[in-house]
Amino acid sequence: MNYEDYLKTAPDDRVKYYQRDDRMYHVMRTQQFDTSLLEELFEIANQIKLMTRKPNGIDFLKSLLRHKKAMLYFTQPSTRTFLSFLGACQLVGMDTAEVRDPSLSSEYKGESQEDAVRVFSSYFDMIVMRDPKPGFCEYMAYYLDRSARSVPFINGGSGKDQHPTQALLDLYTMYRSFQDRGGVSGKRYAFVGDLLRGRAVRSVIFLLSQFDDVEMYFVAPDAFQVAPDLEQSLEQSRVKIIKSGNLKEVLPDVDCVYMTRIQDEYDMSGESGQINYDQFSLYPDDLKMMKPDSIILHPLPRRSEIHPEVDLDPRAMYWRQLRNGLYIRAALMLYVFNQSHRLQEY
Ligand code: CP
Repeated sequence: MNYEDYLKTAPDDRVKYYQRDDRMYHVMRTQQFDTSLLEELFEIANQIKLMTRKPNGIDFLKSLLRHKKAMLYFTQPSTRTFLSFLGACQLVGMDTAEVRDPSLSSEYKGESQEDAVRVFSSYFDMIVMRDPKPGFCEYMAYYLDRSARSVPFINGGSGKDQHPTQALLDLYTMYRSFQDRGGVSGKRYAFVGDLLRGRAVRSVIFLLSQFDDVEMYFVAPDAFQVAPDLEQSLEQSRVKIIKSGNLKEVLPDVDCVYMTRIQDEYDMSGESGQINYDQFSLYPDDLKMMKPDSIILHPLPRRSEIHPEVDLDPRAMYWRQLRNGLYIRAALMLYVFNQSHRLQEY
């Protein structure tokens, strides 16, 4: 199939192209995870987390993928995703290399990204990729799948499109936070800020919509409300959605507040400057309005949308959330290379 025809396939129907032998091979978008796969990954991540507490657990984990190597190809800035993939590779014993600045690689001499990725696949067994162009990681996986040496691709953030592994760590944090309170289902979630251009929030909304009886509040400026395709998908999943421009009104009702920063790197003509983001920000006084057992998440980095004093509140889970990225990404690698069953040997 040529790429034009491939693109005509609805995103949900492309999931089959990311599979090998009925297992997930490429990690491209959150639509490829169902609740049973999520449960499996969360259980693997829980086991990894426990094992990292003991030296012999750490040594055992390091033995699992020491025969594999990963290339981290990040051409868009990153701190957490890059470092937690690096840390996750180290946890499971994978050697890594990186290209973060293409001006230091042969792309500077005019080499295409297609050729660069083909080179990576000759030396490495997995490519983790972040790129500012929506869908570009998927294109690279398609391109390499037609070559003699295909390797698994992990999308570490593709423009405004998707950030599936961020969504995994977000949902893993919700799952752990709500495990003694009936789980992720049946809860109310507020998503706050730039919901149109934030790929993390877009990805986690797709993932969460699979759970029963969730209600979603979208608290955003009119110009940055959720994209029509996402809203349509939620309607099909029968998720109850409530749109609002008033965070203070919503706070008392919800179990989880997922904050986001304004994504002004995607501005076409300074449109972010028109918004008073104070209305979509969380201050210490706002905490009094929230349920005592609710949680506050943020994919980070933040600017001023969460006041630093809020960090001191036990409901602020965003530092724990980013640490969870280490375990869930290590779990994903064990899954993709079909080695997670070996955890039983420990
Ligand atoms: N949440 C996230 O993707 O952070 P980085 O951009 O620092 O990787």
